[in-house]
Amino acid sequence: MLTKSAVVVSWTLLGTAWSHAVMTTPEPRGIGSAQEAVCGAAVTDRLDDDKAGPIENSVAVIDDDYHCNLFLCRGYQFEDNTQNILSLAGGDVLDIHIDIIAGHKPGYANISVVDAMTNQIIGEPLKVWDDFLSSDPSVPDDERDFNITIPQDLPTDCAEAGNCVIQWYWYATGNKQTYISCLDFEVTL
Ligand SMILES: *[C@@H]1O[C@H](CO)[C@@H](O)[C@H](O)[C@H]1NC(C)=O
Ligand SMILES: *[C@@H]1O[C@H](CO)[C@@H](O)[C@H](O)[C@H]1NC(C)=O
Repeated sequence: MLTKSAVVVSWTLLGTAWSHAVMTTPEPRGIGSAQEAVCGAAVTDRLDDDKAGPIENSVAVIDDDYHCNLFLCRGYQFEDNTQNILSLAGGDVLDIHIDIIAGHKPGYANISVVDAMTNQIIGEPLKVWDDFLSSDPSVPDDERDFNITIPQDLPTDCAEAGNCVIQWYWYATGNKQTYISCLDFEVTL
């Protein structure tokens, strides 16, 4: 029979494990040696252990070797991902799949083109969910599978890969956890 404290412990474990999500289509930016150089080994190992895990798990192990920004593309670096660049044009429709491994918390999400140098959103978000995972466990289909339309009026900087990213961002307000996936692209203007 479970004691009261055992019940509390198992709920805590569940709570920690339950929110998990990562973009799987297209393949997002991933880990590499450039990242380890700027984010440090401790942070990078933690990200690698749990590719769909919240950023906060890595924030918890930040040390003196941390000189990146986990909240921009999970700290993943363009230099590690130069073989994975989408060639897009304004008006293109891109199908996205988010692997929502688990998540029953309230929260909100969006996907935007972001200036990778300044970490500022470019223009309007491409899609916003004000109430992400609102009806878990039956996650609304458009939170897992959706499409975005590449804007016609992106700045010329986005013609060169590495300058701009498409960033999906989910913040689970219930457990205060952040999930981010980024796509590298170059746009034909
Ligand atoms: C994009 O998603 C919308 C909304 O689900 C859908 O109506 C539309 O057919 C999709 N477009 C393409 C090109 O797949
Ligand atoms: C996107 O979501 C993040 C995290 O919730 C939030 O900080 C940001 O303001 C949102 N951006 C837009 C344009 O909705």
